[in-house]
Amino acid sequence: MSLTLSDIQHLYAAAGNALYGGEAISQREHALQAAWLAEQAGEDDALVIACLLHDLGHLLFEQGDDDLRQGLDDLHQYKVLPFLRHLLPDEVVNPIGLHVEAKRYLCQAEPGYAEALSESSRLSLALQGGAMSPEAAVAFAHQPHAQRAITLRRYDDAAKIVGMVTPEFDYFLPRLAALAK
Ligand SMILES: [Fe+2]
Repeated sequence: MSLTLSDIQHLYAAAGNALYGGEAISQREHALQAAWLAEQAGEDDALVIACLLHDLGHLLFEQGDDDLRQGLDDLHQYKVLPFLRHLLPDEVVNPIGLHVEAKRYLCQAEPGYAEALSESSRLSLALQGGAMSPEAAVAFAHQPHAQRAITLRRYDDAAKIVGMVTPEFDYFLPRLAALAK
């Protein structure tokens, strides 16, 4: 199971117009905002591309707009991994796999974080298991690329701005191609 770069490009062109679970922006806008915010902050290419592709699982498995309200956790962060492992390095793939756990971690580790989440993000948090226990948070922080996942998470949380101007998907393609195995 693996995707090609043109498969990914096509997915964002074709399926990216679907709304980003309960938010007022599309999946494509959310992905581009996350990547653009990371780039503007000076993050390295692997993190920018991880931000760009972090919700690719939603596109692959077509999470419906109502899934959250129906109490369904699509586990998109895990289901996408077999499609990316052969294409991209661990610096990109592991933070994608951990980006939901990073939210659960920050809810435990950072006062005020949970309260600042958007409504739909709070809704999905409950389905995803809620805040980590203090012990689980310590274990999480020791995993490879946990810090990159936490950094990705901050751009994910911020990338919900209606009307924000970003480059198009193809702007990020050369870096995606350079990282591809
Ligand atoms: Fe996201």
